Amino acid sequence: MIYTVTFNPALDYVVFLSRLEEGQTNRAQKEELYFGGKGINVSLVLKELGVENTALGFIAGFTGEALEAGLLKKGIKADFIRLPEGRTRINLKLKAEKETEINAGGPEIPKEALAAMMEKLGALKEGDFLVLAGSVPASVPKDIYSEMMGALAGKGVRCVVDATGSLLENGLPYKPFLIKPNHRELEELAGRALPTREEIANAAAELREKGAQNVLVSLGSEGALLLDEQGKIHTMPAVGGKPVNTVGAGDSMVAGFLAGLDRGYEYALKLASAAGGATASSEDLAIAPKIAELMKEID
Ligand SMILES: Nc1ncnc2c1ncn2[C@@H]1O[C@H](COP(=O)(O)OP(=O)(O)OP(=O)(O)O)[C@@H](O)[C@H]1O
Ligand SMILES: [Mg+2]
Repeated sequence: MIYTVTFNPALDYVVFLSRLEEGQTNRAQKEELYFGGKGINVSLVLKELGVENTALGFIAGFTGEALEAGLLKKGIKADFIRLPEGRTRINLKLKAEKETEINAGGPEIPKEALAAMMEKLGALKEGDFLVLAGSVPASVPKDIYSEMMGALAGKGVRCVVDATGSLLENGLPYKPFLIKPNHRELEELAGRALPTREEIANAAAELREKGAQNVLVSLGSEGALLLDEQGKIHTMPAVGGKPVNTVGAGDSMVAGFLAGLDRGYEYALKLASAAGGATASSEDLAIAPKIAELMKEID
């Protein structure tokens, strides 16, 4: 089973307007409601690819109930911890001539809720994957991902970390199976600019020396580079043409990679790129037919 974890999931309310008049009553042309949060994105794309998975995380209030019900309806096993106070956040995205986003803070996660999450990890078994994706709220300690990985050490659970800064760095000694920094995140981790493929590969190698088994670097419109656990470099160009909405493209890559792993790293990277490209060239997350179309393009 693949488990994803989202500490601060959201409902993304996307409102389309011809123009936004500040201080006035505006009328929307249309509106959409999406489920948001990096782990949830991974879960949704895995499901599109036919891979059963369980979404873990924290929810609160009626918005949290709606989020959980929505995921269950899509066939994702949702197993969230209910927080005693607050509500799952609603992020507002206003699409007018320009895009304006308002991201809400989300509920407080008390110590007891974190303990409940640690307890849930007890259910994971050899061969399972745990995907730790995205940032955590300010109330949560920055070593939480490494604590979770530490609790699973020796159990044969493969951990995937798609996070930045100390959240990721603290976890490297626990030898995550996969990390997926984008170009900017890799530069931050390396502490220097990485203008060439060679320098990107060198920085990825440094992360392998620090513990990561596979390093998948997503490079936006420049595609992706994988340094696999044997130290072999694979590269893949971006596919899908003109980007429409790249939010979640990296999360889609993680899903594609995991879905393709059974057939080796080269294939995993292909499916990762097709999923990333399918999301980048769609309004919402990647859907199965689009991913299949881009797989053909890659071949
Ligand atoms: N502008 C783009 N044009 C074409 N493909 C893109 C574009 N942006 C992203 N992609 C595809 O999606 C993959 C992941 O993109 P990116 O490097 O932007 O991830 P990210 O920054 O981690 O995204 P996020 O965190 O929002 O999910 C790329 O490797 C590429 O395959
Ligand atoms: Mg990302």
